[in-house]
Amino acid sequence: MTDIKKAIDILNSGDVVAMPTETVYGLAGKIDNPNAINKIFKVKDRPFFDPLIVHVSSIDMATPLVKDFNHTAQLLAEAFWPGPLAIILEKSDKISDLITSGLDRVALRMPNHQIALDLIGELNCPLAAPSANKFKKTSPTTKAHVLEEFNNEVFVLDGGDSTIGIESTVVGIFKNKVLIYRPGMITKADLESILPATIKVSYEQSPVAPGQLKHHYMPNKELTIATDSFEITDDYAVWTLEDDPVVVARELYSKLRELDKSPSSKILFILNEDFKKNEKWDGILNRIQKAQTHDFYFT
Ligand code: TXA
Ligand code: MG
Repeated sequence: MTDIKKAIDILNSGDVVAMPTETVYGLAGKIDNPNAINKIFKVKDRPFFDPLIVHVSSIDMATPLVKDFNHTAQLLAEAFWPGPLAIILEKSDKISDLITSGLDRVALRMPNHQIALDLIGELNCPLAAPSANKFKKTSPTTKAHVLEEFNNEVFVLDGGDSTIGIESTVVGIFKNKVLIYRPGMITKADLESILPATIKVSYEQSPVAPGQLKHHYMPNKELTIATDSFEITDDYAVWTLEDDPVVVARELYSKLRELDKSPSSKILFILNEDFKKNEKWDGILNRIQKAQTHDFYFT
């Protein structure tokens, strides 16, 4: 039996599997099975107020899940799917309140990973899948990360290292505007480049997304972010971030896990002052700000 076949059997029995995506690994369950959805929250220790992203393998699979897959959604999906963009629209009755934590909107995404697309396509059912990590902890970008996170208790489809490395950009779509709830590798400029000027794109500062707590993605050790002038002592396991945000995003969560296991008692990330020049840093800064213990550099 192939691994995909095995994953399909597990999913059809109402259980969960971990699947690779290009952003991070997800912990997946069928949207029409309440036991599976409940298990996702249980395995992650995730509170029920934090809604799940639903994954599809085509735009056709997405449209019945919402009331109106409108023109803006169509433009974004055609431009960025499969890819690291989650689109939030008003849900249809195919999506339970458990998935959306009682909100009337649902987040949808078509991942750009062949194994995930094959899995969802062959199963012929959308999969609810948050990142496959314990609540508030660092997201997994390899099969080994997931096994470690859940003590080998979850079946994991191996899709290699996630190529993007940080979670998708999450956007809410409204009549004449698009709100960015979570920054990611698809930037505001990327979104604007394919939308008509009548649609305004902006960052949503007050998080209506209930899961967007101040602390998230956290290692077990104290993490400090600083620029090069910081005085480094022996207590720190240090990572000096490269200049290319694409490379940093890909390595970020592996580094966090690696340094968390090192003999040093604390973790330090050193960041070049020039980071603000490229919007692709937004997603990374959002993650490391939430992962850090102190508001030393960022407030
Ligand atoms: O890249 C990704 O998006 C990964 C992979 C597995 O696809 N998934 C992921 O899921 O990061 P999760 O659950 O770790 O993060 C989903 C975020 C949360 O901050 C959640 O609050 C928000 O999306 N979200 C989900 N549904 C929402 C909704 N209906 N309204 C507002 N925010 C929502
Ligand atoms: Mg997550």
